[in-house]
Amino acid sequence: MNMISTATKLIIKLAEGHHLTQEEFRILLENYKDLQNDATALARQKTVERFGKGIYIRGLIEISNICKNDCYYCGLRRSNPHCRRYRLTSEDILACCQKGYTLGFRTFVLQGGEDGGFSTEELCDLVATIKQQHPDCAVTLSVGERSRSVYQQFYDAGADRYLLRHETADEQHYRQLHPENLSPKIRKQCLKDLKEIGFQVGTGFLVGSPYQTIDHLCADLMFIQDFKPHMIGIGPFIPHKDTPFGQMPAGDLDLTCFLVSLLRLGHPNALIPATTAMGTLAINGRERAILAGANVVMPNLSPPVHRKDYTLYNNKLSDGAEAAESKDVLEARLHAIGYHTVIDRGDFQSAS
Ligand code: 5AD
Repeated sequence: MNMISTATKLIIKLAEGHHLTQEEFRILLENYKDLQNDATALARQKTVERFGKGIYIRGLIEISNICKNDCYYCGLRRSNPHCRRYRLTSEDILACCQKGYTLGFRTFVLQGGEDGGFSTEELCDLVATIKQQHPDCAVTLSVGERSRSVYQQFYDAGADRYLLRHETADEQHYRQLHPENLSPKIRKQCLKDLKEIGFQVGTGFLVGSPYQTIDHLCADLMFIQDFKPHMIGIGPFIPHKDTPFGQMPAGDLDLTCFLVSLLRLGHPNALIPATTAMGTLAINGRERAILAGANVVMPNLSPPVHRKDYTLYNNKLSDGAEAAESKDVLEARLHAIGYHTVIDRGDFQSAS
C-alpha cells in the first residue's frame, strides 16, 4: 500500500478512535499537502454533525498590553519600547461587557499581558461584578501564568474558563522561543492546575514559529491528545517587526488549517476558534478555518482606541468582521459559507 493511502486510513482512524501515535501523526504531517482535502472534508462533516452550522462567538476584551515577560515572538514583550502601553480600568471593562451583551455576546474573554498592575483582588472583584451584572454569561480569563492559589481565587470569584496556550510542547523548542526565566514545565503545571480546579481550559500552539520542526508539531498534537483541553486555539506565527523574530517568515495557513482538522477529528467536542492570526494571514482565513473544523470566533470587544496597541504581531486584524460592533459583517461572511452565529454561552459539553 502506498504512503498516501496509508495516511488516508490514518485520518479515518483518528476520526473513529480519536487517538494516534506520535509516529502516525508524523506520517500525516509529512503528507499533508496530499491529505488536506480529505482531512478538511471529514473534519467539516464531523463538526456539522456535532454542532450544526452554528458558530459560537466570544467577546474578546484586551485588558492590558503591559507584560513582564519577554517572549521572542510577541510584540507586547517588555523589551519592546515602541509598544504604546495601556491598562483598562474596571469601569472600561464593565462597559465593554455591557456593550457586548447588547450585541449578543454571552462569553467575555478578558485577555492581557502578565501585568502586575492588575492585582488578584481587582481581577476577582471584576469577575464577580461581571457575573453579577450578566448572570447568563461565561467569563474566560487569559492572563498568563499564576500560582495555583491565584487560579483558585479566580475560580471562586466566578471565572468559568481559562485560556493558556502551551505555545510549543517540546522543551528545547520552548527555550528557543522564550527567555530562560520562562519554563515549559511551569507552563504545563499551570494547565494541570487549572483543569484540576475545575475550569474549562483552553490551550494551543503557534504554527510555523521559528525553528519549529514536524517533530515539534507531533509533540504538540500528542500533548493535546493527552491533556484533552476543552478549547484548542492555534494560529500561524506572524512576525512582529520590533521583536528578535521580526525577520522570520510567517507560518503557513494551509498547514494551520490541516492541523485544525486533525484537532477536530481527535477532539470532536472541543471548542476550536478560527483565530485572528488566521484571519490576518489571508482575507478568507477565518472562513477557511471554519470549513476545516473550527466552531468559534472571538471578535474584538476592546475599546476601539486601544485596539491598534494590542499588537501581538504585524498587521493584526481588529476591524471589519473582527470588530464586535461589526457583527453584521461577520454574520454576512458566515452566511456566505452557510454558517451563522449563535447567542449562547457555548460551554464545553462532552455529550454528543
Ligand atoms: N504571531 C502569532 N501569534 C502570536 N501570539 C503572540 N505573538 C504572536 C505572533 N508573533 C499568540 C500567542 C499567545 C496569544 C495570545 O497570541 O500564542 O498565546
